[in-house]
Amino acid sequence: MKLSIIGAGYVGLVTGASFAELGHDVTIMDIDDEKIRKLEKGIIPIHEPGLDRLIDKNSDRISFTTNMEQVVREADIHFICVWTPPLEDGSADLTAVRSVARELGKNFKKLKAKNQIVVTKSTVPVGTGKKIRALIRQTYKNEFSVVSNPEFLRESQAVADMMRPDRIIIGSNDNIAAQKVAEIYKDVKAPIIITDLATAEMIKYAANAFLATKISFINEVANVCDLVGADVEQVAEGIGSDKRIGKSFLKAGMGYGGSCFPKDVRALHQFSNDSGYDFKLLKSVIEVNEQQRNLIIDKLNKHLKIMNGKNILVLGLAFKAYTDDVRESVAIDVINRLQKEGANISAYDPLALINAQKHLGEDVIFVGKAYDGAQGADAIVIATEWPNFKDLDWPSIKDLMRKPLIIDGRNLLDPNEMRRMKFTYEGVGRG
Ligand code: UGA
Repeated sequence: MKLSIIGAGYVGLVTGASFAELGHDVTIMDIDDEKIRKLEKGIIPIHEPGLDRLIDKNSDRISFTTNMEQVVREADIHFICVWTPPLEDGSADLTAVRSVARELGKNFKKLKAKNQIVVTKSTVPVGTGKKIRALIRQTYKNEFSVVSNPEFLRESQAVADMMRPDRIIIGSNDNIAAQKVAEIYKDVKAPIIITDLATAEMIKYAANAFLATKISFINEVANVCDLVGADVEQVAEGIGSDKRIGKSFLKAGMGYGGSCFPKDVRALHQFSNDSGYDFKLLKSVIEVNEQQRNLIIDKLNKHLKIMNGKNILVLGLAFKAYTDDVRESVAIDVINRLQKEGANISAYDPLALINAQKHLGEDVIFVGKAYDGAQGADAIVIATEWPNFKDLDWPSIKDLMRKPLIIDGRNLLDPNEMRRMKFTYEGVGRG
């Protein structure tokens, strides 16, 4: 099939490359000229394992452009994959989506296009599909269809999530268009759930909000564990073994970050409110997520008494492991707060140092090895769940530190082992 991807960001590139892998011809469009020129030369602007290989392997089926007319000439199913960043009040900014819809409308008219299908992959509030239809209608008077096909891609596992998803959601008020989009996925082994437009849009938000709720729930359980002397890791194992609950997204820590959960939970809360419903549970999910990072700072304060002048090494800057993405990273926020209290910060991350430098002040010392930052440190905070932090030579690190204090914000290390090494160790909810 002939498909277009509008927006060559993380979702667009993974989706486009995967569609090409499934045998479709894909035109990938972006307004960023430089990005498209780089992509044409095989330079992938994001870090996503397996994506470069997939694009390279399918290069004869993928073309890149900045020209919307070319998009409409070459394809008849168009996937909108542009960003929808949060506005001040938490609602999603649809400026880019609207602009794409207008451009599609103009070019549908200009080229007298027929049987066009416009699909939203971007996470958009319920009702956006309807707005897209109205915008295109302003210029293009022939029939076309709007479909919602939300993405469920986790950064760092996005290619696998795309090729082997748990399910595919396709929502439209036009069943023929929905079936046509389903056809794109015919070689993917996953159940396809067909719904109406609004329901598909809602499924995306409800999925992310539910996962975020699981995280805030286990974080609150962890906070009680700290008070009553129970171990949240074992509690998570114990409850997660019940299939109805499931083990995933029950890792207690400093709270969720990234470009999706914080934004989507706030947006669902906001558009529920706008529709006249006070989504109380989500308000708490957001509050708990904010509170988790404060608890880490409280734990540091408890041991260090005065933060001013203390040397703290933060291990991990990315919002989660295996990515260089620092958007809404809890680590960055914690560093900013510690600096406000007068602490001297050094920081290490296996992948995200360059991106973090753009978000943090010059006062942070970025180190190329964890050991360099440990020299003279009064505390280490583990802020991202990078598994390789477990393999550091902790006895040598202890010798370098001024005070052997570890605040493990991701419950990465074994508390007993760390205490055997004579560290003062605190995790989250580990009794
Ligand atoms: C998330 C969803 O998992 C994807 O299904 C969805 O498609 C994507 O958002 C999106 O809307 O585009 P992602 O943001 O890549 O994917 O990250 P996750 O792996 O879900 O992690 C989000 C945050 O939750 C991270 O900060 C992580 O450290 C934290 N987390 C995750 C926990 O604190 N505990 C857990 O048990 C799991």
